[in-house]
Amino acid sequence: MSELKKHFLNINKWSNREIHNLITLGEAFKHGKQVQLKHPFYAANMFFENSTRTHSSFQMAEKRLGIKLIGINPSTSSVKKGESLSDTIKTLQAIGVGMVVVRHPKTGWYEPLEKDSNIHLAMVNAGDGHGQHPSQTLLDIMTIHDEFGHFKGLTAGIVGDLSHSRVARSDGQLLNRLGVHVLFGGPRNWYPKDFDTFGTYVGSIDKIVPKVNIIMMLRVQRERLSKHDAATFDPKQYHKDYGFTEKRAKHLKKGAILMHPAPVNRGVEISSPLVESSISRIFPQMHNGVFARMAIIATLLKNRNLLLD
Ligand code: CP
Repeated sequence: MSELKKHFLNINKWSNREIHNLITLGEAFKHGKQVQLKHPFYAANMFFENSTRTHSSFQMAEKRLGIKLIGINPSTSSVKKGESLSDTIKTLQAIGVGMVVVRHPKTGWYEPLEKDSNIHLAMVNAGDGHGQHPSQTLLDIMTIHDEFGHFKGLTAGIVGDLSHSRVARSDGQLLNRLGVHVLFGGPRNWYPKDFDTFGTYVGSIDKIVPKVNIIMMLRVQRERLSKHDAATFDPKQYHKDYGFTEKRAKHLKKGAILMHPAPVNRGVEISSPLVESSISRIFPQMHNGVFARMAIIATLLKNRNLLLD
């Protein structure tokens, strides 16, 4: 039997069975399941990068689980005086916080912290640099499961700015592990070679669209592009070359769905009306995000014996 998980940091540390259990628990929360804390429990959400969905849906998940939130804003905290992430987390632990949810620009921010024997509270990764976005991956997997009821034999196409996408990495890794055939599209110079271990680079969106059950478009992260790419990026040309358009949508298989982690650059990676179209699962993804995150947090609390039976 695998060790009970104390943190949710990297999707690769969770077995297929544990992932299926999280999906089942997320679905149960969606259908009204409730849990009760044994004692008052306090959490802090620290976002060192901007966020709307992840931050607000973690907050919603925590509130629905009866967790009390300690407000902390990195831009007005002692991080600005040079305090390290490790010391900030130890400070929160010292005042009684039992869980921190952290989004941080440093890839693998959590690696030294999970080895630190002085850190006992639960840590949740809300996105690390170019690394992973494991809670987004869980909500994406839950959305795909809602739609198809299984993973094996499906094909997913992930198209866009792959080099800056932590979502593409953790989604690709888990989808591949669950038996989904993963194809990647977008400019060749935005394709990270390590993605070869969990998918196949095709490049052309026109070759990908007719093959897939899931077309997942990625935001062009203009704030992370190299100086050269930012200066030469032409949104209209990108839309023509790699955008998901009404014309391309006609070539999808029957029953195929459109996903995007959002925020969406409407008219760049997706033609705007398709965002609310019948094939789009973009807002259902956000809805599932609350329940996926409730499942993550409730599992960590259960593993720490903090829930009533
Ligand atoms: N999908 C996602 O991570 O969105 P936010 O950056 O708004 O949290």
